[in-house]
Amino acid sequence: MKFKVLLIMVSGGAVLLSSFTRGDQQETDYREKVYLDKRCNCFVKETYWNGIKSTYEQVKDTFDFVPLGKYISFYANGDTAAVTIYNDYQKDGIYYNLYEGGQLWEKGRYLADKKEGLWFYLQQSGDTVYKQTFVNDKEHGDGFLTFERGGQTFREYRSYTNGHNSGTWKTYVNDILSEQTVYDRSIPGKYTVQYYDTISGGLIYTTVHAKGKKAIQTINSPDLYKQMQWRAANMTGEQIFIVNCASCHHPFKDATGPAMKGVLTRHSEAWVRKWIKNPAAMIAAGDPEAVATFNQWNKTAMTAFPYMPPKEVDKLIAYLNSL
Ligand code: HEC
Repeated sequence: MKFKVLLIMVSGGAVLLSSFTRGDQQETDYREKVYLDKRCNCFVKETYWNGIKSTYEQVKDTFDFVPLGKYISFYANGDTAAVTIYNDYQKDGIYYNLYEGGQLWEKGRYLADKKEGLWFYLQQSGDTVYKQTFVNDKEHGDGFLTFERGGQTFREYRSYTNGHNSGTWKTYVNDILSEQTVYDRSIPGKYTVQYYDTISGGLIYTTVHAKGKKAIQTINSPDLYKQMQWRAANMTGEQIFIVNCASCHHPFKDATGPAMKGVLTRHSEAWVRKWIKNPAAMIAAGDPEAVATFNQWNKTAMTAFPYMPPKEVDKLIAYLNSL
């Protein structure tokens, strides 16, 4: 490693210049400039990497670099990246960082190196991503978090007491309540989660957790629960057919039930949809096509799929049409 240091006195301060090469890395030019900044009447240290300003820091005096005062870091283009206030090596005062271009990214306050008061993060669009109050470096009070996943917007309302989850937390998916958690601070580790159907708004199931105990699950709506399982499985039309229909139906040959190819020319799509949901009801109601098919197949009963959600039926119909 080659290292040369030059110290040049400039008016009211000093410039420290150094350049060095490490291994086969490109020569790096590192410079420090320490001077009395008339604007704050304080000593300032600036550092430059290959001519690009990387930090601006207030220092006690020219040769005492104990962080004290304002410390600013920069993007390569010279835009401010972050501003930290130090007091005797501790972060103390307002802190913020910015996106390249100057848009506010994160803002909060430190008190003796600990987060205190409201902290928040913003998206480049200016929308809040995270908002939380801190007391003595711990989350305390109401908080808010939002994020995107799989094309959906999640919003989470939280609550803390001295860094511990407390009160009622709510999660909304595309503005519809999907989860509600209630923390019971009187019993350690006890919380109850209620899961809602984001289509109908109905309560699907409830889970009660307690420290060292197996979670107790209660199904509030068996119908919605089955629909939820269908949606969670997120199968293709072909997978739905293999898992649910192929035990009785072959795509091209008759089996326990008729071959599926051409079924949508024998019946209307609306009829097939209704049949999949509840074949027995159609036979009982005397639907002529249903009764004829049933008799033709020696009155063998077909399984009903009443809880298959519309989207899954769509995929299945598309698969049957593709045969
Ligand atoms: C337990 C066996 C069984 C299962 C499982 C089953 N089916 Fe059937 N299916 C039949 C039988 C048998 C018939 C003939 C009518 C009758 O006997 O009710 C039939 C008839 C049909 C018909 C009318 C066919 C025609 O040519 O008229 C369609 C459409 C159909 N089933 C679709 C499905 C789909 C889609 C699934 C899976 C989601 C499925 N079936 C699962 C046994 C079954």
